[in-house]
Amino acid sequence: MNPHLASLHPYPFEKLAQLKQGITPPADLRPITLSIGEPAHSTPQCLQQALLTHLQGLANYPTTKGIPELRQSIAQWLSLRFKIPLDVINPDTHILPVNGTREALFSFAQCVIDPASKALVLMPNPFYQIYEGAALLAGAEPYFLNTTEASGYIPDFESVPETVWQRCGLIYICSPGNPTGELIGQQDLIKLIELAEKYDFIIASDECYTELYNDENTPPVGLLETAFAIGNTAFKRCVVFHSLSKRSNAPGLRSGFVAGDAEILKQYFQYRTYHGCAMSLPAQHASIAAWQDESHVQENRQLYREKFDAVIDILNTVTPAIRPPAGFYVWLKTPIPDTDFAQLLYKTENVTVLPGTYLSREFNGVNPGSHHVRIALVAPFDECVDAANRIKHFVNSLTI
Ligand SMILES: Cc1ncc(COP(=O)(O)O)c(C=O)c1O
Repeated sequence: MNPHLASLHPYPFEKLAQLKQGITPPADLRPITLSIGEPAHSTPQCLQQALLTHLQGLANYPTTKGIPELRQSIAQWLSLRFKIPLDVINPDTHILPVNGTREALFSFAQCVIDPASKALVLMPNPFYQIYEGAALLAGAEPYFLNTTEASGYIPDFESVPETVWQRCGLIYICSPGNPTGELIGQQDLIKLIELAEKYDFIIASDECYTELYNDENTPPVGLLETAFAIGNTAFKRCVVFHSLSKRSNAPGLRSGFVAGDAEILKQYFQYRTYHGCAMSLPAQHASIAAWQDESHVQENRQLYREKFDAVIDILNTVTPAIRPPAGFYVWLKTPIPDTDFAQLLYKTENVTVLPGTYLSREFNGVNPGSHHVRIALVAPFDECVDAANRIKHFVNSLTI
């Protein structure tokens, strides 16, 4: 067996199931699950219709590169969204479709890390656990960038020692962040691109929450637009990961793309050809329909906005709750240890949230997930409000 398998950590939801085991929550309260980041708003009609219309595509093997129309529609979306001239993006060399960003974030490390190099793979902490597993299975060593209240819940690149940058082969960044919803600003992205040039490492920017932002006038800035803005028009060392799962409420479609540095993507394309992860033709056509439509995304943002407005107002009456600029999570500070908070909340209020330490590791003597829980505002409005009121009731009971 691959010896690195033994270093993988249990997934957060396995730990959560154990935490809840043997507990019977009050039967008169309907269960509300806000632990999993699975979008529950309806999948847009245009996507569903395109899927049905192209079902005959199941009769063909799809190609790893996907059909030109898909890459073209992605190039157009990238260009419009991130203000990059369309002729700068070559759909044949800068874009690859992927079956959701999870598999791509994982396989990317397997492709770009030289197992003999003893490389470090940097990542935020707390994090999306795939980054860590990808690093470990690629034979690299994870190095965590604690995102704490003091760092504004984003990584502080300035605080990373030079010896770490020297060993860095790959860095995962996540903006908007899961679980914090905070954004890495353009100045920090510029700094990171400069560091990548200086120390020769690759930046994998997970931007899968980038379309779920609060302020309609200031969408989160992306890595490729930043590269372009500073004259890195070939997107050297920069690769972004985008998904339809959150943007278009289609986590079951398994559709996203990677885009950026053509030299890296050439190698990654070859890796994927062997790996055998081409997207089915009906899914490609459904994806084209989704990338070409913005109205459902605007509606989606509005639904999250309404839920954040209501939930943050309620929580703030008992405990300071920050409304993040993007994403669909509330990263709530807890007055007692996060696992106790989650367990007792389930026991007394039948509401399930995720303890912060299930998403983080202790690093440099700090565990930035401790005393936090992640609350995913994915349930319908009324359920989110009901859950917020129950959390309020629960927090009040702790202080009595
Ligand atoms: C930060 C982050 N990245 C990537 C993913 C993977 O999403 P998908 O594979 O559906 O594109 C998720 C899913 O929850 C996530 O939270």
